[in-house]
Amino acid sequence: MDFNSTEQWKKGIRRIIITEEQIRAEIKKAGEFINSVYDGSPILLVSILKGSFIFMADICREVKVPCEIEFMAAKSYFEGTESSGHVEITMDLKHDISKYHVIIIEDIIDTGRTLNEIIKILRIRGPRSLRVITLLDKPERRVVELKTDYSLFTIPDYFVIGYGLDYGEFYRNLPYIAEYAE
Ligand code: IMP
Ligand code: MG
Repeated sequence: MDFNSTEQWKKGIRRIIITEEQIRAEIKKAGEFINSVYDGSPILLVSILKGSFIFMADICREVKVPCEIEFMAAKSYFEGTESSGHVEITMDLKHDISKYHVIIIEDIIDTGRTLNEIIKILRIRGPRSLRVITLLDKPERRVVELKTDYSLFTIPDYFVIGYGLDYGEFYRNLPYIAEYAE
């Protein structure tokens, strides 16, 4: 993406769909969910980069049980506007996850193909349990069956930006979630 001015960049932000306050309130509840499910057994929060970096930073501070933090990066190959299900791990975990209850911290589930592949890869490594928490869910777009354990917001089929999510690598820094204006 190429911007010539801040004004031009701002035009990409159509309208705020989820405010900072709404995000904060739902993150508190998601933290309570984690605190109620796990009771002192070793948990590993796995953030899928880059989209979930802000979500991870906020949700981990609501966790009141022992936990470790890890990052994983995956590149999804797209066919047009949809991910193809061909996923390449570009940064892998350092931990042997067999000792942990793993919680995947994801930004958004669209078709579900990317996360479906990541789940398969992690399952093979035999974690004690594996759960998925996603900030956003676009169920209308789903093409593979995928169960999330906790989703903070269900949204219609909008392309969204902000709070870690990008369009062409921009807009991740917005503190709220907005609809992108084509
Ligand atoms: P999926 O494989 O179709 O579920 O989606 C894969 C990835 O596409 C997500 O992890 C996001 O990185 C990206 N993505 C899907 N929808 C959006 C959106 O509305 N805004 C920003 N990124 C998106
Ligand atoms: Mg993502």
